[in-house]
Amino acid sequence: MSVKNFLSLTDFSPEDLEQIIERASELKRLHDSGIRHRPLEGKTMAMIFELKSTRTRVAFEAGMYQLGGHAIFLRPDETQLGRGESIPDMARVLSSLVDIVMLRVHDHADISSFAAASSVPVINGMSNRFHPCQLLADMQTFAEKRGSIRDQLVAFVGDGHNMCNSYILASKQFDFDLVISTPTKFRPDEQLLDSSSRARWVSTPQEAVSGANLVVTDVWSSMGQENERVERHEAFQEFQVNAGLLDSADANVLFMHCLPAHRGEEISDDLLEDPRSVVWEETGNRLHSKKALLEFMLR
Ligand code: CP
Repeated sequence: MSVKNFLSLTDFSPEDLEQIIERASELKRLHDSGIRHRPLEGKTMAMIFELKSTRTRVAFEAGMYQLGGHAIFLRPDETQLGRGESIPDMARVLSSLVDIVMLRVHDHADISSFAAASSVPVINGMSNRFHPCQLLADMQTFAEKRGSIRDQLVAFVGDGHNMCNSYILASKQFDFDLVISTPTKFRPDEQLLDSSSRARWVSTPQEAVSGANLVVTDVWSSMGQENERVERHEAFQEFQVNAGLLDSADANVLFMHCLPAHRGEEISDDLLEDPRSVVWEETGNRLHSKKALLEFMLR
């Protein structure tokens, strides 16, 4: 049987994704009821973090623990990767030692090359191209708050980077309409955008958000783009999500942000406290959606 990886949302069928999201809500209920569920006893996950993380690391580590397994945190500079051991060799080594590997890398090509050499499943914990685990939590949160996202209208405002790319794939897999607004210079990957008949780009945030059921944004400068911060700050001035912008969305709109947020930049100072914001539930669902993902991949 071939190994199932989760490098982007299109690695799984829409039915598999729906199943994981439903299971995530079930696992949340079990956890909240104090019921222990430990199907991964004896299983180990290695987590390689080339870039910083709070939510992804803690959610995977806590999730593995709750499921009865164990997670090992690895920084490339503290392993032989930092001394020149190749990514494919590292993949072969870890395949003989653990049951599953998660990587957070800058260059998506590195995770692809790791997965190609790995004989255990590989999870993308975020790359410059995609952040599929975040989308599981976002889709779970929408389903819990509003029901099915199918045929709903989603607006992505901000940088056409990995979160925007992931929403483009989600529009295909979860069957919703996506309207993206970014500065022209920071549009998402054109080929990716063209690959979804449900996604389109517009020039103004007002147009994107009009009538939307879900509004999403992300930071203006992602990790690795710090040297573009001044230029980006200027280019994104008109792309802040604030209460006024949300007023032109649907009356029942939800607001999500993968966090960490830069208050006063991509969102107004008070937006996380706005009643339409569900960011704290979204963050909490990182735990349960990851548990459902691990259970699905290691069952
Ligand atoms: N949203 C997210 O992936 O958070 P971390 O960078 O803290 O893992």
